[in-house]
Amino acid sequence: MSLTSLKGRDLLSMADLSREELRSLLELAADLKSGRLTPRCEKTLGLVFSKASTRTRVSFSVAMFQLGGQVLDLNASVTQVGRGEPVQDTARVLDRYLDVVAIRTFEQQEVETFASYAQIPVINALTDWEHPCQILADLQTVEEAFGSLAGLTLTYVGDGNNVAHSLMLGCALAGMHVRVATPVDYQPHPKIVAQTEAIAQQNTEVLVTQDPQLAAKGAHVIYTDVWASMGQESEANSRIPIFQPYQVNDELVSLADPQAIVLHCLPAHREEEITNAVIEGPHSRVWDQAENRMHAQKALLAAVLGII
Ligand code: CP
Ligand code: NVA
Repeated sequence: MSLTSLKGRDLLSMADLSREELRSLLELAADLKSGRLTPRCEKTLGLVFSKASTRTRVSFSVAMFQLGGQVLDLNASVTQVGRGEPVQDTARVLDRYLDVVAIRTFEQQEVETFASYAQIPVINALTDWEHPCQILADLQTVEEAFGSLAGLTLTYVGDGNNVAHSLMLGCALAGMHVRVATPVDYQPHPKIVAQTEAIAQQNTEVLVTQDPQLAAKGAHVIYTDVWASMGQESEANSRIPIFQPYQVNDELVSLADPQAIVLHCLPAHREEEITNAVIEGPHSRVWDQAENRMHAQKALLAAVLGII
């Protein structure tokens, strides 16, 4: 039921999913990963990307190939998008050719405008505001490690960015406690905090703090991301001293649950937001996490295309 409700739908924000839809997607992702289900289609996915990508581009492409479909790489630099063709026009044209589109861009408004002009499912493959596809894979990885999600504590340490935003919403949907530790001027947007609090059940913690040690205490998952995201490269050096106290290192991980796992959406800057020892260490699950992008997005594609 929850999967059929996703047919034809957009995923622009993590909050576009209900609890039941998220649960069904995670179950489908596990079934696809194990090979219990092998749905097939003859559909075409377009990737309209205006930012660099390794994992999202390749995992979406391979997922679509494994479903029997085709992928068109519609990088902004090789289409009229890069020359300024309005998103409203691009959306109405691509809608006539494609069956589903994944968009990676800067402004969240752009994916929303695209979606409002296209009938086909539109998937947010990262904007400055959110990165929902990443969080599907993250939750799959946490569930693999602990067997379930509800009641676990995830602590995100670093910049209150797109990944932090979708994580907060995703954890709340999954019934997880979520703590976010950032420098004072880099907190998640108040709209996301309010949305997370509205989704979270009464007994679920939503903590936004400047204290990484407090946030890490007893956590089951420690998560970080780069201190300067794509589009913020000019601030990268000036951010380093501000974010240094928020580095995920052995000392911080030692405060977490002894069985805690460490996640990073990648790409990582070793010795900045995460030490080499931690990313290569026994708590790290970052390679499983990267692999799960493919399974989770295959589940999402199968659901929105209605082939499951
Ligand atoms: N985590 C992630 O989205 O990676 P890419 O930027 O390589 O797609
Ligand atoms: N916050 C990072 C995530 C990259 C996958 C960025 O937007 O660059």
